[in-house]
Amino acid sequence: MTSINFSNGDEMPIIGLGTWKSKPGEVKVAVISAIKEGYRHIDCAPIYGNEFEVGEAIAECIAKGLVKREELWITSKLWNNAHRRENMVPAIKKTLSDLKLDYLDLYLIHWPIVHKPDIVNPKEGNDFININEVPLTETWNGMIELKKAGLTKHIGVANFNSKNLNELIKNCEEKPEMNQVELHPFLQQIELLQFCKTQSIQLTAYSPLGSGAESRKGDHIPVILGHEVIVQIADKHKCTAAQVLLSWAIKRGTVIIPKSVNPNRIAENLASQNIKLDEEDMIKISGLDRQYRYVDGTFWTFEGSPYDLDFLWAEENVII
Ligand code: A2P
Repeated sequence: MTSINFSNGDEMPIIGLGTWKSKPGEVKVAVISAIKEGYRHIDCAPIYGNEFEVGEAIAECIAKGLVKREELWITSKLWNNAHRRENMVPAIKKTLSDLKLDYLDLYLIHWPIVHKPDIVNPKEGNDFININEVPLTETWNGMIELKKAGLTKHIGVANFNSKNLNELIKNCEEKPEMNQVELHPFLQQIELLQFCKTQSIQLTAYSPLGSGAESRKGDHIPVILGHEVIVQIADKHKCTAAQVLLSWAIKRGTVIIPKSVNPNRIAENLASQNIKLDEEDMIKISGLDRQYRYVDGTFWTFEGSPYDLDFLWAEENVII
């Protein structure tokens, strides 16, 4: 499989299986079918509520000899209630225990948002901790320690804009190697992609298929999978709309983690690496950008919260 390279020579497979919204009871079969199909990269997080079952699938595949641990790339993430240094080692150890692993390949700060330690899902302003009290630099220095302790091979962040990345770049001894953000033709992240390129930070695209928007038609949200431009390009290449979206992201050098619990779609998504879009296709898709977020972050910015959308998403020197 095509990979991206880290500076120490490690290779991260460019296509991973996403597990956000994969329900317990479905995700084990999905992970096993993905590994049988040839996936070697699984993207996880404790907040998805399914790491124990993902771990069962990984353990079963290793026990059956389908794959070796060192052939797999496993990513997980630090949840917002564990940003304080004393909570970080217990958090990664719980994830490792659930996944039944000795180390992660990549560990990410899930959001630049801090909750009180006993709050998983904040409901009121008081559930948050102000970022000045537990600065991102403090949590990032903790991530560097986790790496030094051998609990993870690589470290990075998710949902960081260039401003929050810059804070780490300017003040810490190591910079993130990865930033995982929402990315698809409706949210092309051109400025962030450019900034990360200049800093040698790789990008992973989450929700590359539009986060299941087609199943939420009543909500009046735009559906990228059925967009006429995408469908026309799919017809031209005799492939599916999903494969166009994924091959577009691969051609831009971003890692993709499409979520599916359906074996046929799991296979279809992996086969997207064989679709080669041309310049005309790329130009047409570039016209679809509308800065639209399926995961808009408003769940962190309700009244009384110390966080706002500008803190989350405004790129340096750009006002939204
Ligand atoms: P399912 O798990 O039933 O396959 P994203 O990765 O952008 O969040 O998108 C995931 C959503 O897209 C899920 O609802 C998933 O449903 C669906 N999906 C995954 N792969 C495909 C595909 N190849 N074609 C159509 N829908 C897909």
